[in-house]
Amino acid sequence: MKQKSEGPARSTTQVAVVTGGAQGLGRASAEALAARGYHVVLCDVNPDVAAKAAQEIGSTRATAVRCDVGDTSSVDAAIAQVARDLGRIDALVNNAGIMEPSRSEELSDESWERVLRINIGGIMRMSRASHRLLSESDNASITNISSITAHRGFPGRLAYVASKSATEGMTRVLATEWGPKIRVNAVAPGFILTERSRAIYESGIADGEARAGMTVMGRLGEPREIGDVVAFLASPEASYLTGQVIVVDGGFLANGRTGRDITERPA
Ligand SMILES: NC(=O)c1ccc[n+]([C@@H]2O[C@H](COP(=O)([O-])OP(=O)(O)OC[C@H]3O[C@@H](n4cnc5c(N)ncnc54)[C@H](O)[C@@H]3O)[C@@H](O)[C@H]2O)c1
Repeated sequence: MKQKSEGPARSTTQVAVVTGGAQGLGRASAEALAARGYHVVLCDVNPDVAAKAAQEIGSTRATAVRCDVGDTSSVDAAIAQVARDLGRIDALVNNAGIMEPSRSEELSDESWERVLRINIGGIMRMSRASHRLLSESDNASITNISSITAHRGFPGRLAYVASKSATEGMTRVLATEWGPKIRVNAVAPGFILTERSRAIYESGIADGEARAGMTVMGRLGEPREIGDVVAFLASPEASYLTGQVIVVDGGFLANGRTGRDITERPA
C-alpha cells in the first residue's frame, strides 16, 4: 500500500500553497482560495509582509512560510514544513515572479540568470517538491502564473518574456506527465492594477490610461479578477481542464481595433 506522508495529523481542510503570496496577485489568489475554504500557505521571500497578509486573511485559514523559490534547499524546507504541519497539498499556485526591465543589448548575465532562476526555476522546484503530497489529493492542481507578454512583443523584457513563454511550455509538459492525477494550467494576466503597478503608473514610468484603452473592457484589471480564475482552476468545477493557458486580460490580445471600424458611421 502507498505510504501516506508523515505528519501528526492531515488537515481536514484542503491546503493551497501560493508562492509570492504576500502581496499583489499572489495575495489575491490566496484570498480567493481561502474564501472557498482552503487553508492557504503563503510562501514568500518576504516573511514580514507574508505574515501580515496571513494574519489579515485569518490565522485559522492562512500561514506564512519563508521561502525563496530560486533556492532548492529553501523550497524543500518550506514544503517539508507544510508536510509536517498540515500533511497535505491540494493546490499549488506558482505565482512568484520578478521582472528586471533592460534594453536587450545591455542585459547582464546576472539579471538574465536571476529572472530565469526565480520565474521558471521556481516553478520547477516548487512543483517537484510538492509532487508527492499533490499525488495524494483527490483534487490536485498546479496553476502557473504566466503573462500576456508571452503572446506579444513587449520591448525591454527579454528575460521576463523568455520565462513566461517557458512557463506555458512547462505547463503543458507537467499536465501531460502528471495527469490525470494532477491538473496543470496557467493563467496569463493582462494589465492588472496591483499596488506595484499603481506606483508605476502614478510615477509616469508607464501609461495606465493608454493600456486600459487597448483592452475591450476599457479598464485595467483588479487583482481579484485573477484570484477568482486561479481559485476556479483549483476547484472541482475545472475537473476536465488541464494543459491550458487562460488569458485574463480584458480582451487586450483579442482586440484588433485599429481606430474607427468599417461598420461605424461618422457622427
Ligand atoms: N501585476 C500584473 O499586472 C501582472 C501581469 C502579468 C503577469 N503577472 C505575474 O503575476 C505574478 C505576480 O505579480 P505581482 O504583480 O503580484 O508581483 P509583486 O511584485 O507585487 O509580488 C510578487 C511577490 O513575489 C515575492 N517573491 C519575489 N521573489 C520571490 C522568490 N524568489 N521567492 C518567493 N517569493 C518571491 C515577492 O516578495 C512578492 O510578495 C508574477 O509572476 C508576474 O510576472 C503580473
